[in-house]
Amino acid sequence: MNTPNFTRRQFLRSAGGITFLALTPVGRGLFAASQTHRTDLPLFTALPYIQPGNNSRLIEGKESMMICWQTELRPAEFQLTYGNNQPGKSQASILRNKRWSGADDDKSRFNYAAVLENLRLGTRYYYRVTANDETILEGYFTTRKPRGRNIRFVSFGDNAHGAPSDHAIAYQAYQTHPDFVMNTGDNVYEHGLDHQYAEYFFPVYNADQPALETGAPLLRSVPFYTVIANHDVACKDENHHWCADFDAEPDSLAFFTNFYLPLNGPDPVYPTPMHGDEKRLKAFKQCAAKRFPRMVNYSFDYGDAHFLCLDSNLYLDPTDTAFQTWIEVDLKNTDANWKFVVYHHPAFNAGHTHYQEQHMRVLSPLLERLDVDIVLHGHEHTYQRPRPLRFAPQDSGKAKQLHQNDRRVPGIFTIDRDFDGKTITRPKGLLYITTGAGGKNLYDAEDNNNPARWLHEDDNNADYVARFISDRYSFSLFEIDGDALTMSQIDQNGETVDHIRITKS
Ligand SMILES: [Fe+2]
Repeated sequence: MNTPNFTRRQFLRSAGGITFLALTPVGRGLFAASQTHRTDLPLFTALPYIQPGNNSRLIEGKESMMICWQTELRPAEFQLTYGNNQPGKSQASILRNKRWSGADDDKSRFNYAAVLENLRLGTRYYYRVTANDETILEGYFTTRKPRGRNIRFVSFGDNAHGAPSDHAIAYQAYQTHPDFVMNTGDNVYEHGLDHQYAEYFFPVYNADQPALETGAPLLRSVPFYTVIANHDVACKDENHHWCADFDAEPDSLAFFTNFYLPLNGPDPVYPTPMHGDEKRLKAFKQCAAKRFPRMVNYSFDYGDAHFLCLDSNLYLDPTDTAFQTWIEVDLKNTDANWKFVVYHHPAFNAGHTHYQEQHMRVLSPLLERLDVDIVLHGHEHTYQRPRPLRFAPQDSGKAKQLHQNDRRVPGIFTIDRDFDGKTITRPKGLLYITTGAGGKNLYDAEDNNNPARWLHEDDNNADYVARFISDRYSFSLFEIDGDALTMSQIDQNGETVDHIRITKS
């Protein structure tokens, strides 16, 4: 297949970016305002990046956005002004949180987050950041599109670990000019630590220039949504249960300190487990503030789509009544034309690495009843597109068993074998897409385009998989235009390796 046929106008259209940056590299992951020869300014450890902040529903005039950056632990007086046509005079409020490294303060830093409020939807804004009255940055971004506007977004997971593969996927994803990124978890390997973000995440997804070899300036251009996953929770405890161990890794759980995502979910019944020295836990909680433990379940709208993002880690029981009640309330209260659910551990995965972690299957009847269209996962480092399906669990006993790898959920499949995404485009059932080939080493080489290996006795050899690609890295590009949606799976070379169209009318 060929590369998607973007017009030059589309290619030049950019949702956001940086137009002036007075910060230059002075070391690995360190940037200085060297052009100004100022010695009173701290070194920057993360260049400015965009975060969606606490937006959920689309409300005209009440949109907000966040511009975030990080410095070494020396104070400076930052200001951010913004406006519709130029940086303007509106002042953003700026939050500053200390991220403690657990060692001496040399490796600790200040995390800054500027909150820009009362914005219009689907509108470009310009901003200027000053430090001690020196302009260090100017840029722009676009707020979320309202209902009725076409949108496009990219999705990938299991990504940052400092290899050419994740650089290439970042570059190719950027080339499609998405409105935002919807990551499917395992953001940074191996343990989601703050210094691993500094080494593998920010330099790749917030690279100065787009290039196959280095990554792309995605983070400074568009919001980056994500979900928490197993490698975002760091270590395992003495019982081999996933747990953030602040004694072993004092900069654990950087998911909660680097991202600013909506906080409209409930306090989780099964909060992310952690242990370690009280002083370290307290320092982490002060930095994360309201984001811990709440930020693991949330929802937001973008254009005609609604996204429900969930924690699916093995420390939780998805049969929990409160968890399911919140899911039901959230999905019932949206009038979006397209409903997505995003969680890391795939319910329907024909691969052979995490096949038994099926606990999220118990949600299928609920998601079917609430008219969800597409579910996105990672975890298996492959691309898998099942046929549209419905599923009736027969035994949810193992799904309740916390921390176990064997959480198989047997049940009855109803598979739509007519849908082909080309001539027959109205699916009878949900599409459960695994897009976990975002950079980390690929799984299941023998399963690539090999249908015989996609059958499992535990599933009565149900042929629920349509495509399974495990010989290359890839990401998903979604484009929504009214009642039509297309999904293209694009590999690290920019080749489209799968493409489907879904319609509602
Ligand atoms: Fe994973």
